[in-house]
Amino acid sequence: MTTQFLSDNEQDIEVAAQIIKDGGLVAFPTETVYGLGGNALSPSASNAIYTAKGRPSDNPLIVHIADTASVYELAKEVPDIARTLMEAFWPGPLTIILPKADIVPKETTGGLDTVAIRFPSHPAAMELIKRSGVYIAAPSANTSGRPSPTTAKHVKEDMDGRIEAIIDGGPVGIGIESTIVDLTSDIPTILRPGFITKKNLEDIIGEVRIDPAIIHPDPNLRPKAPGMKYTHYAPQGELTVVERMEVAIPTDATPEFDSKYYADEGAAAVADTINALYNKKKEAGSRVLILAPEEHRHFYNIEDTIAVGSIDSGITVAARLYAALRECDERGAEFIYSESFKDCEIGGAIMNRLLKAAGQRIIHV
Ligand code: TXA
Ligand code: MG
Repeated sequence: MTTQFLSDNEQDIEVAAQIIKDGGLVAFPTETVYGLGGNALSPSASNAIYTAKGRPSDNPLIVHIADTASVYELAKEVPDIARTLMEAFWPGPLTIILPKADIVPKETTGGLDTVAIRFPSHPAAMELIKRSGVYIAAPSANTSGRPSPTTAKHVKEDMDGRIEAIIDGGPVGIGIESTIVDLTSDIPTILRPGFITKKNLEDIIGEVRIDPAIIHPDPNLRPKAPGMKYTHYAPQGELTVVERMEVAIPTDATPEFDSKYYADEGAAAVADTINALYNKKKEAGSRVLILAPEEHRHFYNIEDTIAVGSIDSGITVAARLYAALRECDERGAEFIYSESFKDCEIGGAIMNRLLKAAGQRIIHV
């Protein structure tokens, strides 16, 4: 198959929409990551998506819509809480899980009786859905197991020759996938953390839980989002996260100076550990890379350190994380050591991805 490369102008989106109508697959930008789209109500389009990604077919797809009214066609019931969330966060990076209506094929939901629905805010995504006149099932447009694509170039690396077209809308804004919240349980439950945090949700709807299987990853706990159980986002090299131990700041500390002092001490301890690990592997002749925020790059061998956003700005870290993991593969890294990014506002979502990429390998110093 020859993959067409399209831009995000009107004519090109029309070409892409026609491909979707005809049952083909098109990768397109969203505000989170690039998606791999096909007609969500067509079992054969869903099957083609699984094949193109090399994805297990028990892992359900998210159905993308371009107006809230569509929810009432896709879901059997729409509780008040869903309406409240739709109003507060759509269009935007929130996916809701509801009982599915009969028109949604089991191929799309991986055999489940529920459906994941998302109304993306990216203009090209909205335009594609509207023009194709169908709902678009779209997982992230990566080969199963690889980091999600945040640029059209990443999509090309994984999907060239496997799908009909790729729309290039430039780098995405957010960089990690949507927050998924299950509204079929008594208490709304986050199945995948994302840019919209637990606190953001609680401010609107009150108590929200996080699926315990993603807080304490454990082979005996089965995450409710089937996709969360797979090793994922993983670079080819062995990734290890190095994180500082929580340090209690003494109660008699003078606020500003001392908290900065303790933060700096922690950063220095992490850097010492990473440098020791780096040097050991380097001496053994391995290719080693380091992931750290821009401000910490000077702690390390500059050439071998990839900057992942800025300290204390989770938004910049999320935007760069997957590209950094892909760069590790391009540069042939056999071992990768990463600082932790848990202390920023979307630290939960970032660490969920980073620790999955690391196969939960973490060292506390
Ligand atoms: O930001 C996003 O959500 C991106 C863009 C393209 O919209 N899409 C995305 O799709 O991340 P995907 O397929 O890579 O991840 C979907 C996740 C998987 O973990 C899947 O198991 C879960 O959603 N999921 C889908 N339907 C579900 C359902 N009915 N119940 C539980 N989990 C579901
Ligand atoms: Mg994915």
